[in-house]
Amino acid sequence: MKKKLNKIANDTNLFLLRFLSKQQKTDLMQPMKYGLFPGGKKIRSKLIVDVGKIFKIKYHHLLQVGAAVECIHAYSLIHDDLPCMDNDFLRRGKLSTHKKFGESTAILAGNSLLTIAFEILSQKNYRIKNEIKIKLIKLISESSGHSGIAGGQYSDLSFEHKKIPLKKIIKMQIKKTGKLFSFCCMAPVIISKKNKHLKTFEKIGSDIGLLFQISDDLIDYTGNTKKAGKKTKKDLKKGKATLIGLLGYKNTIKYANKLKLGIFNKLSSFGKKADDLRATVNYVLERKK
Ligand code: IPE
Ligand code: IPE
Ligand code: MG
Ligand code: MG
Ligand code: MG
Repeated sequence: MKKKLNKIANDTNLFLLRFLSKQQKTDLMQPMKYGLFPGGKKIRSKLIVDVGKIFKIKYHHLLQVGAAVECIHAYSLIHDDLPCMDNDFLRRGKLSTHKKFGESTAILAGNSLLTIAFEILSQKNYRIKNEIKIKLIKLISESSGHSGIAGGQYSDLSFEHKKIPLKKIIKMQIKKTGKLFSFCCMAPVIISKKNKHLKTFEKIGSDIGLLFQISDDLIDYTGNTKKAGKKTKKDLKKGKATLIGLLGYKNTIKYANKLKLGIFNKLSSFGKKADDLRATVNYVLERKK
């Protein structure tokens, strides 16, 4: 699993470096690259490759979709760390982008990474029919805006220091994190045109995204700043609405394990082809960073 993840991370970074090298050289390029490289785990790209394996999609196509997703993800982290959001100074083991380059530059570098995702998905040499490209761009847009990341981040911030019921916390986490994971699990299905599987992979994606956010909250609760590459033990101080805050640590672990079993159930009809995806799901909960 780790080896495969590292290979996908390297290949995605190479793809992105090549893509950026063909762009106009601007003053924002350096802060954009700072937020993008050496980059994080690339778990979203790994999911795209895992589901792509089930639907027999070419690795090259999957990498391209993954590169677009990683740009949106990197933008969301740059903005998430801003003083008006989570106010964090450490990201991926180094100073957050706004600490390094200033707030306005971080906002604009984030905006630029968001829009670059659409450029990547619409680029000419992308040998996928325009009709499919439009579907992907529409879905990634929905996953990132007010009904996805941005909307979820809004709820996350407005829930601070309030007692929020379980259902609402889960809805917020699915928006801020799960929607982009859904996109990752749906994109290979869209490319394969096996549309009867779309709903299943939408749900699998949002479940994995929710599991991922729960494990992120667990890392904040028990984890180590050095290992995680970001400051831990902050959610409680900030009054973040998390399952740990509501249910306690032990019940959160129970909830997460149940969620994981549910994902495995949904994958049962896909046999051995889904083994890589199963390994990723296991990793999501076991990871320490
Ligand atoms: C962190 O995402 C933010 C969440 C959505 C929980 P990752 O843990 O995927 O961050 P990187 O890309 O590995 O740094
Ligand atoms: C961020 O969640 C989710 C995003 C969509 C960026 P967190 O605020 O918990 O992520 P970290 O812990 O700062 O990485
Ligand atoms: Mg946040
Ligand atoms: Mg944060
Ligand atoms: Mg967190």
